[in-house]
Amino acid sequence: MRTYLVTGGAGFIGSNYIHYMFRKYGDSIRIINVDALTYAGNLENLKDVENQDNYTFVRADIRDREAVAQIFAENDIDRVVHFAAESHVDRSIRNPEIFVETNVLGTLVMLNAAKKAWELPDGTYQPDKRFLYVSTDEVYGSLEEGDTYFYETTPFAPHSPYSASKASGDMLTKAYWDTYKFPVNITSCSNNYGPYQFPEKLIPLIINNALQGKKLPVYGDGKNVRDWLYVDDHAKAIDMVQEKGRLGERYNIGGHNEKQNIEIVNIILETLQEMLPEGDPRKALVSKDLITYVEDRKGHDRRYAIAPDKIKEEIGWYPETMFKEGIRLTIQWFFEHEDWMKNVTSGDYQKYYEEMYQTK
Ligand code: NAD
Ligand code: TYD
Repeated sequence: MRTYLVTGGAGFIGSNYIHYMFRKYGDSIRIINVDALTYAGNLENLKDVENQDNYTFVRADIRDREAVAQIFAENDIDRVVHFAAESHVDRSIRNPEIFVETNVLGTLVMLNAAKKAWELPDGTYQPDKRFLYVSTDEVYGSLEEGDTYFYETTPFAPHSPYSASKASGDMLTKAYWDTYKFPVNITSCSNNYGPYQFPEKLIPLIINNALQGKKLPVYGDGKNVRDWLYVDDHAKAIDMVQEKGRLGERYNIGGHNEKQNIEIVNIILETLQEMLPEGDPRKALVSKDLITYVEDRKGHDRRYAIAPDKIKEEIGWYPETMFKEGIRLTIQWFFEHEDWMKNVTSGDYQKYYEEMYQTK
């Protein structure tokens, strides 16, 4: 039975990936989820799998060398899928240190532990072992007027502390291939959306605020563009890269769903109006009058967009979920999981929200 070590599996993409993998492979795989449970990690995301014999949760910090080494010593790991990270740009602007600690040093700990566990006396590795680093399109910087897309060959030009730290982890991973022929892949994906996304990110924040009749903060002129990828499509791409990708290669994963932020906000408002039943008191609260243009994010990247040609041609993956469909699935999930939203927005979230948006 193949064993996966998933880091950051209690977060947004990690938990969707775990669900995807169990749906696809059932009990023919085993997953060990290693997560420190920061503000972004939530075991509620994995309630429906927590009692499965082939699922194990280990609360550990990826910066903790001994704890990570112990997991490798006690388990014959075949695949590492490394999601764990500090993931929010706005937080990185306010507090960059933890981003370097987790995203750079934590990645190094993971690489070293896997390398040590898989290395044979002659310097090669046990067969069929793979380490995948989940990177981001933000490592490429920002597309400006006249630019086309980010490609795998686009030079790195990260601007935020978040993207700089992800670029460092990304380059370390590539260095382990270049230097040691350690079996890695890197995937750089665009903005994900879907169930279980923490409401500090644009889409769940807008859905949550709109349903409560709260202001909808739009940074700057609202015309920054992101390329939205439905999270299940991303999970599928990661699995396909680990199975079919060429070792040492990077694959860009994008949704072909480029939209300005203000378009996203308007689509969410229109879709909420369509989906809320007559007589639901929230229907009266959802309104374009809530849109509030606020001070721009510092160093705000203008446009991200990926042409996922390489992954399509080499591996056969393409984004299956168009935004219109994906946003309905996402909103439906939030309708059905009101308690989830209540739980994650109680406590620390209020403090974060007030501090983050008070001056805006
Ligand atoms: P998230 O913030 O929802 O989840 C991160 C998870 O990592 C949480 O469960 C958290 O508890 C865990 N974690 C954080 N620090 C840890 C540590 N030191 N040790 C162990 N666990 C720790 O993030 P996400 O949106 O699911 O993103 C997952 C990965 O995908 C990240 O590497 C991120 O950079 C990358 N990514 C995300 C997006 C996106 O749109 N969300 C886009 C591109 C790339
Ligand atoms: P976000 O979801 O934080 O993802 P990222 O910064 O990694 O792309 O933000 C997506 C876009 O939405 C980005 O251009 C910033 C913008 N934004 C707002 O306009 N208002 C908000 O309250 C948030 C959180 C983001």
